[in-house]
Amino acid sequence: MKQPHAPRAARRATERVAIYPGSFDPITNGHVDIIMRGAEIFDRIIVAILHNQEKAPFFSVDERVQMGREVFADEPKVAVESFDGLLVEFARRERAQVIVRGLRAISDFEYEFQMALMNRRLAPEIETVFMMPAESYTYISSRLIREVFALGGPIAGLVPEIVEARMRRTDRARESRP
Ligand code: PNS
Repeated sequence: MKQPHAPRAARRATERVAIYPGSFDPITNGHVDIIMRGAEIFDRIIVAILHNQEKAPFFSVDERVQMGREVFADEPKVAVESFDGLLVEFARRERAQVIVRGLRAISDFEYEFQMALMNRRLAPEIETVFMMPAESYTYISSRLIREVFALGGPIAGLVPEIVEARMRRTDRARESRP
C-alpha cells in the first residue's frame, strides 16, 4: 500500500530516478520536450552535462548548467548537473536506475544501441530507456542550431528563449573582442 508519509530514507529507496545525459551545447527545445516527458514518468530526472574535451564549445559546461537550471527553475523534479568519467558511475552515485536517451530518427539508432549495450555491460542494473520527442522537434540538433546561428539564421522556437538570448549575447561579446 502506498505510504504518504514514508520516512525519507524509505522514500528515497523507492524513488525512480533517471539520468538524461548529453553535451547540451546548447540545450534545445527537443531536449526540453524529452525532459518534460521524463518528468511525467520518473520521480526525478537529472540532466547530466558531460565535461567533454571538445576544443571549441559554444558554451562552457558551467554556462550550460546555469542555463539548464534557469530553464527548469519551476520544475522541482528536474535537476541539472555536470559530470565527467563514466556515465554509469555518475548514475550509480546519483542512485539512478534509468538512463534516458532521445531517439529522433533511425539514424540515431546505431550509436544509441551501441551505447546502451555498453552501458548495460558496465552496469547491468541500470536500464536505458529511449524516448521520442514531438515530431516537430525530430530534426533539431545542437550542432544544427550552432550552425544556423553562426550563419545568421533564425533559431527562435528551436531553443528556449533564455538560450537564444544568451547565444546572441555571447556572440556579440566575441565579436567585440579585439
Ligand atoms: O549529447 P551526446 O554528445 O550524444 O551525449 C553523449 C554522452 C554524454 C551520453 C556519452 O558520450 C557519454 O555517456 N559519455 C560519458 C563517458 C562514458 O560513459 N562513455 C561510455 C558510454 S557507452
